[in-house]
Amino acid sequence: MEKYIVRTSGLKKYYQMGKNVVKALDGVDFKVKDGEFVAIIGKSGSGKSTLLHMIGGLDLPTSGEVYVDGRNLAGLNKEQLAIFRRRTVGFIFQSYNLVQDLNVYENIVLPIELDGGHVDTEFVDGILELLQLQEKKEVLPNTLSGGQQQRVAIARAIAAKPAMILADEPTGNLDTATSHDVLGLLKTVARQFEQTIVLITHDQDIAQLADRIVRIEDGQIVCSHIGDGEMEDSCMEGGQTSDSHTTDDHMTEGSGSHAEK
Ligand SMILES: Nc1ncnc2c1ncn2[C@@H]1O[C@H](COP(=O)(O)OP(=O)(O)OP(=O)(O)O)[C@@H](O)[C@H]1O
Ligand SMILES: [Mg+2]
Repeated sequence: MEKYIVRTSGLKKYYQMGKNVVKALDGVDFKVKDGEFVAIIGKSGSGKSTLLHMIGGLDLPTSGEVYVDGRNLAGLNKEQLAIFRRRTVGFIFQSYNLVQDLNVYENIVLPIELDGGHVDTEFVDGILELLQLQEKKEVLPNTLSGGQQQRVAIARAIAAKPAMILADEPTGNLDTATSHDVLGLLKTVARQFEQTIVLITHDQDIAQLADRIVRIEDGQIVCSHIGDGEMEDSCMEGGQTSDSHTTDDHMTEGSGSHAEK
């Protein structure tokens, strides 16, 4: 039986805005296999970040369930949820959120130390090498380029050996070439350490690096496309239930080019 690290069912997140209800997520059944690299794409406001926040235990759903690594997140209290976030998930956001007074190495191991964990220095050195940061180990973040700072943020996410990396447009501030380099490295490192990646991106080319591309529209998954050209049922269901995306050429384009690989 296949092991899923993430499993959501009927996931909804509604926001009451005055008289209106914003349906940020509207019934999402989303599964991620252990070790899989999934890219989430979709227009601005479609619900991508909301989904990532639910999976990462940063926010609670209105209804529906989220299981991560066999745990029902709704069953965890605040403290357990904080521990879950620190130990099971590595977050990478568009802003690097590095501590400016700490050097590169100190930034990378900070979450482990805050959690009272043991720093596996050999492991961290391996990550630094893979991310080509060895020479920058002792410098302060403000002496680094954007791409280098993003690589430090990636190293920090990986260093605590989380089972899963959640990345929300991690290369949004970088030029195309650097984005690809950084994402390529993230993929390599995660592969090596058997970590799952769920990555939100606006960049079709970056999405192509993933094993699977999931498309969200109006809070629903409308397409889930696997690299081997197979379409999951959710693509079909999305096609039948939503009237807005059946003629969407992005979907066909993305699917086509991915299948050629
Ligand atoms: N705290 C909130 N209160 C009210 N509405 C919210 C809140 N957070 C998100 N939303 C709404 O939920 C919807 C989905 O937002 P979300 O941030 O998930 O979109 P997204 O797909 O990540 O967009 P982007 O690509 O612009 O980051 C949007 O309509 C947004 O306005
Ligand atoms: Mg977002």
